Amino acid sequence: MSMSTNMPTERGHRWFAATYDLMTKPGEKKLGRLRKRLLAGLQGDVVEIGAGTGANFEHYPSGVRVVAFEPDPHMLKRAQARLAALGRTDIDVRLAAAESLPFDDASCDAVVSTLVLCTVHDVAQTLVEIRRVLRRGGELRFIEHVRGEGALGRGQDLVQPVWGWCAAGCHMNRRTEDALREAGFDIAELEHKKMAPWMPAIVGTARERA
Ligand SMILES: C[S@@+](CC[C@H](N)C(=O)[O-])C[C@H]1O[C@@H](n2cnc3c(N)ncnc32)[C@H](O)[C@@H]1O
Repeated sequence: MSMSTNMPTERGHRWFAATYDLMTKPGEKKLGRLRKRLLAGLQGDVVEIGAGTGANFEHYPSGVRVVAFEPDPHMLKRAQARLAALGRTDIDVRLAAAESLPFDDASCDAVVSTLVLCTVHDVAQTLVEIRRVLRRGGELRFIEHVRGEGALGRGQDLVQPVWGWCAAGCHMNRRTEDALREAGFDIAELEHKKMAPWMPAIVGTARERA
C-alpha cells in the first residue's frame, strides 16, 4: 500500500478524546460484539476512517493489513497507545481526515467506518474518497447511527445543535443510508439496530454499484 502525505490542520477535541472510552464503556460490551461481527472475515488491505481511540483494533482478524486514519491528534495519540498495548504490527494509525485520504486509488479491499459518517464534515466527499480507494469489488463495512423516522427524527433535529456541541460535531440526524445510495453504493447487507432508544443505527456492508 503506498501513501502520500496529507496532514489535517484540525486542533481536535481534547476533552472528547480524553473521555471517549469512559463515556462509551457502558455500551461497549454490546457494541464490541457488533464490531467483532462486522470485521470478521476481512482479508487483505483495509482502511479504517475515523479510528478514534482504536476501539476496533482488537476485533480485526489476523492476516489483514490495516491502515487506520484519524484526524484528531488527541484521538490519534490514544489509538497509538492502544495499538502499542495490543502489540499488533498489522495495524498502522495515521493522521488524516476521511474527506482526503492519503491513499492510492483502488488500493484496498475494504473500508471500515464505525460511528464516523455522523461526524465527518462532508459526507458526500467522504463517500467519494471511500469509492476512490476501494478496489473493484471491495466493500465498505459500517456501523452508523442515523436519523430516526417521524417524531423521533423531528426530536433529533431539535436537539442536534446542543448534541453537536457536546459530542464534538456529531450529527444524530444524518440520513446515512440515503447518502450511501446517492453516492453510488449498493447496500448488500443491512441490519437496523438501536444504540440507545433515541439513537437508531444501521450496520452493514455496501459495494460500489456495478
Ligand atoms: C464517535 S467517534 C468514533 C470513533 C471510532 N470509530 C469508534 O467506533 O469508536 C467519531 C470519530 O470520527 C473522527 N472524525 C471527525 N471528523 C472526521 C473526519 N472529517 N474524517 C475522519 N474522521 C473524523 C473523530 O475525530 C472521532 O475520532
